[in-house]
Order: sequence, then structure tokens, then C-alpha cells
Amino acid sequence: MMHFRTFSSATYINRRKVLKTKLPSGIILLLGNHEAPMNYKDNTYQFRQDSNFLYYFGLDISGLAAIIDLDSGEEIIYGTELTIDDIVWTGPLPSVQDMAASIGVTVTKDFSEITEFISKSRQKGRSVHFLAPYRHDNIARLSYWLDIPIHEVHNHTSVSLIKSVISQRSIKEACEIEEINNAVNTTANMHTAAMKFARPGMKEYEIAAAVHQEALKGGGNISFSTILTVKGETLHNHFHGNTIKEGQMVLCDAGAETDMHYAGDMTCTFPVGKKFTSRQREIYQIVLDTHEKAVFNLKPGISYKSVYLHACENIFNGLKSLNITKGDAAEAVALGAHAMFFQCGLGHMMGLDVHDMEDLGEQYVGYTDHIKKSTQFGMKSLRLGRELEPGFVLTVEPGIYFIPTLIDMWRAERKFSDFINYERLELYKDFSGIRIEEDFVITTSGSQLLGRSVPKSIAEVEAIRADVLS
Ligand code: GLY
Repeated sequence: MMHFRTFSSATYINRRKVLKTKLPSGIILLLGNHEAPMNYKDNTYQFRQDSNFLYYFGLDISGLAAIIDLDSGEEIIYGTELTIDDIVWTGPLPSVQDMAASIGVTVTKDFSEITEFISKSRQKGRSVHFLAPYRHDNIARLSYWLDIPIHEVHNHTSVSLIKSVISQRSIKEACEIEEINNAVNTTANMHTAAMKFARPGMKEYEIAAAVHQEALKGGGNISFSTILTVKGETLHNHFHGNTIKEGQMVLCDAGAETDMHYAGDMTCTFPVGKKFTSRQREIYQIVLDTHEKAVFNLKPGISYKSVYLHACENIFNGLKSLNITKGDAAEAVALGAHAMFFQCGLGHMMGLDVHDMEDLGEQYVGYTDHIKKSTQFGMKSLRLGRELEPGFVLTVEPGIYFIPTLIDMWRAERKFSDFINYERLELYKDFSGIRIEEDFVITTSGSQLLGRSVPKSIAEVEAIRADVLS
């Protein structure tokens, strides 16, 4: 009995077959992850397999690596059979050979033998293609196996392998869309739970616990650390210790991953009380309009950078109607003045990782040789800028954030004072932030929402809150 679920063996066989056509020669070395100790060796973080390893081999256990020999076509999985000591503590597993056979690999070897294979390959002058490692123990392994100083390992990653993997993983297969859809449905449950559970006087962590529970009930876990806060102006706020009070808003940015590790990622923002204040309604409506326009714009061939720029202009114009901004929106956005309110990107790819393939490099995943990632404050955080293609899965997550430190800093510098009405903005320093996020797959003609929709109009959100609090 396998401890994890996989797609059919044909899925993995085919993915590897395609990968082999993309590179001319040498060997591909794909590293699985190992257990990572939290505070002593046997007290580990929850195990998370490497997503590239999962994509090509599907085996969700620690301590594996794989070689794909581009010249002979051979595929080898390296692993270590459990000893009776392991079985006593962690239970039995099928043999490495049986697990490998289940995903179409017939050759397995002991993990220790990989050193010799790599060493011999290098002696013969063969290229060893590997992806950018992000775990320190795998960096150390690569350093040892390839005889490269640790600080130089990253200089030897294979750009051709990185680009090949991205070209495959960017276009989601039907079986993947189904998994992601399931992840987003669980994610929708998390957000509905937050809206239904929150009561004035609670601690944020009580609601975060209810949100996390839904992810576990979905059979997997959270796809990233839950953001649940009344201080939504801090984009990745992982502190959950505030007491939520009437008049405030809760921003919940949370997602589930399925047991196969496909992710969902949504954000909702709702009032702690029954209704938004009039000031909150005004800003919320700007974010919602921006979200809906961005979704409307999604289609193959459009660059996500242009969808982002339209969203920035929408936010700028919305704030202009409240006298917070002034001047020409296109000009303001080109110069980066909108980043006072919208400091992040509009969204990112999503799949086996919540920020899909980000370990392989944002420039390679979200951009092209011709469209480079910006270095401008605000736009530099746009993780996806390239033209959209059918099969891409991405998030749409506009927001408006009033960050007191940024307001004070730019005001002192008189930065963009032609576009920002600082007198008026001063009144919003206690506002916090609003974000609305959903997940989409690009189709041949447009886009499709993934998962079931969660209430997001002001009327819908207030109806839930009124129901809960009455
Ligand atoms: N939703 C969290 C993130 O995109 O980083």
C-alpha cells in the first residue's frame, strides 16, 4: 500500500519522454527533498517533496534522487531501503523498486551509488544538468557530488534544463487542472470558514486555526503560511496575535494544497462587524472593480504585464475619485506613483507550488528573453509579465494598501507629489489594506475560474457577516 497518491504511470513516463526531447546530451540530475530538522534531528518540519521531482517522478517520500541519461535514455531512481529501526518508528513502505515501478522506472540503486555515477560522468566530460537548489542540504550534496565549492553551486545550474522544465510545467494537463480545482475548492472552504467564524473580540489566531482546519479536512494541508490579519497593509503578515475589533477588516490570504501538493491561493477581506464602514466600502469597491476588469482581460496572447498596468491605472483612477491621487493615471503608473498603494504584482503562476516554479527563477518563469522583469518599486514584484497561453494557471490579486511608513517616507521626500494628495492620504494612515484574490486557468478563448466562487461583492460579504453576527 503506497502512502501517497500519484497520477497514472503513463503521465510520468510521458513527461520524462518529452523532457528528453528538449535537451541534447548529458545527464539530468533531479533531487528529491530530505527530512529537515526543526530543532533536533528527529523533530522535523512536515516533509514537502520537491515539486520538480514530483512532476517527473511523483514519489512523495524523502531521500530520493533521480538520473535521466539523455544519451542512453536510462532512468534511475536512487533511494535507501528502510531498516527495521525505520519501520519501528515510521512504519513500512514499499521497496524503492516497487515505488519506482509504479511510475514507470525500472532501475533503482542505493542512494550512495549516485556519487560514483556522477563522478564517472564528469570524468567522461558529460554535462550534468541540474536545477537551482533551494535547500541547503541539497546544495551541500551537489557541492560534494560535483566537486564545486558550496558558494559556486548556483553558478552551475543548467539554464537549458530550467527552461525545459518551465516550458512543460507552465501548461497544465487536464489531470493537473482537476487537482488544482480541488485545491481551490478546499481553499474556498477556508475562506468561507473565516467569514463565518470571525467574531469581534476574537484573536486572529483563533480564526487562522479554523482556516487551517479546512485545509486539513481537504486531505492535504496549507499551501503557504496563512495570512490572517487586521493589519492587511503588511503584505505577508504572518502575525496572528491581534484582537479583532468592530470597525476593522480582516484580510485572509490562505490556500490549501491537495495531498498531491497542487495549490490553491485566495484572498478575501471582510468587516469584523456586520458592515464595512463607508470609507472601507469605497476602497473595497475600487479593488473589486479592478479585480473584475483584470479577470475580464485574461485571454491567450495578452501579456500579464499589460493586465497589471491596466489594474494599476484602475486603482489610481479609483483613488482619484476620492481625491487621494491626482493627475494622469497612465503617466503616474509609468513613473511608479501607483506603488504608494499597490506595492506588489497582480498575480503569479500556480500549480505544484503556490508561486509555481519560483525556485527556478522569476525571470525564467514569468518573463521571456524579450520581456525582462522590472526593477521599479512596485512593478519589480510582478512575478508574471509574459504573454498568457492556454493551460496557464494564475492568480489575480489586486489590492490597495496604506502603509504608514511608506506614506511618511515618500511624503518627506515629496515623491510623486504631482500625483499623490498627501494631505488627504494622511487621513488613511490607519486604514490597513484590502486584497481580493481568485485563481484562473487560461483557456483557448479567455479564462475560467477555478474552484467555486466565494462571496466577494459588498452585498454578499455583508450578508454573510450579518447572518453570522445576528
Ligand atoms: N498568497 C500569498 C502569495 O501569493 O504570496
